[in-house]
Amino acid sequence: MISNDKLISLAKQYGTPLFVYDGELMLERYNDLFRFIPCDRLHIHYALKANYNPALLTLLRDAGAGIDAVSPGEVVLALALGFAPEKIIYTANNMTDAEFDRVMKTGVTVNIGSLSRLKKCAANYPGSRICLRFNPDVCDGDNVMTMTGGDLTKFGILLDDADEAKKIADSGNLHIIGLHEHTGSGLQHAESVLKSMDNLMAIATKERFGELEFLDFGGGFKVPYKDDEKAIDYVSMGRQIAEKFENFCENYGKKLLMRFEPGKFLSAQCGKLVVEVNTIKHNRTRTIAGCNSGFPQLIRPVLYGAYHKIVNLTNPAGSPQIYDICGNICETGDRFAEQRELPEIREYDLLAIENAGAYCYSMGSVYNLRPMPSEVVLNNGEVIDFRRALTDEELTAQILRK
Ligand code: LLP
Repeated sequence: MISNDKLISLAKQYGTPLFVYDGELMLERYNDLFRFIPCDRLHIHYALKANYNPALLTLLRDAGAGIDAVSPGEVVLALALGFAPEKIIYTANNMTDAEFDRVMKTGVTVNIGSLSRLKKCAANYPGSRICLRFNPDVCDGDNVMTMTGGDLTKFGILLDDADEAKKIADSGNLHIIGLHEHTGSGLQHAESVLKSMDNLMAIATKERFGELEFLDFGGGFKVPYKDDEKAIDYVSMGRQIAEKFENFCENYGKKLLMRFEPGKFLSAQCGKLVVEVNTIKHNRTRTIAGCNSGFPQLIRPVLYGAYHKIVNLTNPAGSPQIYDICGNICETGDRFAEQRELPEIREYDLLAIENAGAYCYSMGSVYNLRPMPSEVVLNNGEVIDFRRALTDEELTAQILRK
């Protein structure tokens, strides 16, 4: 865990806003999963969309992780970083024929989530080895926008269509080597993971899908964002997952591989965004702490109403006051936190926005033409990578394609 003093010294050295990542903590979370889920055939495919920082990806690659990729761009990056094609699963949705073709040619396993795409695959790529994504029919997640199961979402083939999927696959002699489901992100209940597993395993019969090599149960392991949030008992959940899976394999008559695709669980807690407050303003009803970053650089509070803990790094003992922590973007909703109690914030204080390692930099944009912040990666206390923010001139050159 990177100390607050270290964050201050990194901010002084590299400037703010600055994303700071702790590689060691990410690897600890990776190893936790193997501790929690006692199955010797567990494979973790990191959901690259959560954070594509190359230094973090390299640490995961060296630890043996695979990748869950959702666009040709993510496949290209993972291959460029040396992930073997067989370690990558491609789970795009609503993909074009050209994208599908491009990824099929890389040797990466493609995960098909609609009967329509499956028909095209059977007709044009007979004999291929593919994975099928089913909708687990379980709704869970930290908000409605990140729930993936159930009939209101666009994802996966309906469980009811398993026979139809099998018929289409057979028409092109496709080899169904894996079945997949993803229930949602930030799953609130351990039971949801177990129920989704049950639902997928119920259709994974030897008669229907006799060539399976793995079952992939997606991502979604939640991490606490609030101090008082009820934590999931991952030890107990992991044991139940392993038991369920082994029972299934016994009935199926083959020891399949078990895959999960966590993003948040691995990278959320390892990242912090350090910002500097430059303006304190007392409006009639609110005290505003204005800082040098904004929602394009960390959008979760604005997009999902997500809570991110904020720490006053440079005045931790200040007397508590209530603030709106606002950014530097020309929009009213540009707040990292509303009516949040923090030790007194003074101009030039540094704040750390926590749990910023997943879906923060990766969901970033240059709205208002503010370049994305620099990123620094530490491992075992040492800086192992620094990615400088673009200058305004470099950003302009990119826009002008110069
Ligand atoms: N597998 C699939 C097929 C997925 O769609 C996702 C996430 C994951 C794995 C990883 O889920 P995780 O373990 O990270 O929860 N931007 C949102 C989260 C969107 C997740 C999209 N899919 C957020 O900031 O909360």
